[in-house]
Amino acid sequence: MSIMEPSCGKGEFLMAIIHRLKESALRYSFDLNDVYHNHVYASDIDGEKVACCIKRIKAEFPEIISPELSISTEDFLLANHDRQVDIVIGNPPYIRYEQIPKDKLDIYKRRYATFYYRADMYVLFFEQSLRLLKHDGKHCFICANRWMKNRYGRKLRELVARCYNLRTIINMEGADAFDEEVLAYPAITLIENNKDRKVMKYAETLDIEALGTDSFISLPIPESDEWNNVFNAETYNTIFSTIEAQGYRIGIGVATGADSIFISKDIKGNVEDELLVPSINARDLKGSRLEWKGRYLLNPYDKNGNLIDLNDFPKAQRYLETHKERLASRHKASRNPAAWYGTIDKISPILQSQPKILLPDISGNDYIFVDKGEYYPQHNIYYITGGREKDLELLAAILMSDYVRTQLNNVTNKMNGGYARWQSQHLRKLRIPTIANINSTLADTLLECYHTKNLEGINRYTNEIVRYESYKTPDKKKNAQVKYTQFNFLDLFDQYSDNPIIEMTTRK
Ligand SMILES: C[S@@+](CC[C@H](N)C(=O)[O-])C[C@H]1O[C@@H](n2cnc3c(N)ncnc32)[C@H](O)[C@@H]1O
Repeated sequence: MSIMEPSCGKGEFLMAIIHRLKESALRYSFDLNDVYHNHVYASDIDGEKVACCIKRIKAEFPEIISPELSISTEDFLLANHDRQVDIVIGNPPYIRYEQIPKDKLDIYKRRYATFYYRADMYVLFFEQSLRLLKHDGKHCFICANRWMKNRYGRKLRELVARCYNLRTIINMEGADAFDEEVLAYPAITLIENNKDRKVMKYAETLDIEALGTDSFISLPIPESDEWNNVFNAETYNTIFSTIEAQGYRIGIGVATGADSIFISKDIKGNVEDELLVPSINARDLKGSRLEWKGRYLLNPYDKNGNLIDLNDFPKAQRYLETHKERLASRHKASRNPAAWYGTIDKISPILQSQPKILLPDISGNDYIFVDKGEYYPQHNIYYITGGREKDLELLAAILMSDYVRTQLNNVTNKMNGGYARWQSQHLRKLRIPTIANINSTLADTLLECYHTKNLEGINRYTNEIVRYESYKTPDKKKNAQVKYTQFNFLDLFDQYSDNPIIEMTTRK
């Protein structure tokens, strides 16, 4: 792993980076001096600042011999860079178009495709440093956010949208991010050199001390130089509502307290048929097929939710009596001995016949199933009911999209891919476009993708729906205030990156 700070000044970021490295060096027993010289690079145009930076490093890290060898005094925009790096991190110079030295203006213009209209110099820093990234490399700047909205930023927005992967924006418009009053509208951007994802994270804060992780929202990444969508992002929190607010119900399958007695393939014939309901668990939902394994659940309740009188069901009575000792020893039965043959959760026969989305708790499934009303879920499955089967299929498709997976990863604090758990407390936090309002053409297309298990189409049309819905309601009030206890740029980088800087030398 290698890291570059292209305009290091007196070394604010560089010092923090070396501190991190030193911690790593102690933890993983490597040589700080070695790693510094082989993995850390910096530059600045101002010789005095570079000298000051070198002095600081020498004073604080005497074990680093000749730190100046890794720090160039040069114009980062004109230097010939012969190495690619894994990470670029920094706070580039803000130099307005009129203040860019005249003798350099034409050279910069020839060299930088993003030098458009009256661009500020930081735009060129973005272009140059993005080009230095290795594949999958990460780029994190704290910088004015103007380029994301204005005319001069158009070409840079286009470059980022078309060639890179915009992962995170923390918009700190109005926040006091710096000790000095240097920058009115800062934003932190994290950009990756790949095109793997379809969804980005966005947060706004006015209070840097209160910057946090819980208010990030997921957005489709911009696909062109048009990024207005991102900055209307606050509307997502207000126009998109939770699943329950849309009238659906989230629940978890039945816990019996004795699954091997209440749920079995062999129980059919041993008890009255009318007491049996086909039952499924997470193992029936593997891959992209729902395969019922033939298990039945014995329902000892009547339609009013009262325990049945066993005298009316002689086969069930016989069956349950054979297991009485174990059933009666369950905690629930010890509190109410007469109910020794009850299940821990009541069984509501209606649930079986309702269409429902089935979400296995810890499954790596890409596919989300909708049961038309045949099965009763067991306790390792969460379910969503309400609405027509078609609406549930639309909701299932949206739940399968990267748009929701990213939200789920956020709410479960699972940042780096993999499968987050579908649990009711997480499901309750998701914000989704209102299913009932989805434009009918888009709905039909999304349903077709769902039925043909076309994940790419699901992502594409979910993003379309998200965009469409947000344009319909463009000016809702801001609601994306973020909380954070202590602002630390490198911590933030770690949080939203797969490669924490602290570990950069150990993960090659
Ligand atoms: C906003 S300061 C950031 C300094 C440092 N990253 C920090 O946060 O303390 C911008 C730095 O860019 C440097 N700079 C300006 N033009 C530059 C160029 N063409 N090449 C390299 N550095 C440049 C300035 O000297 C200044 O130190």
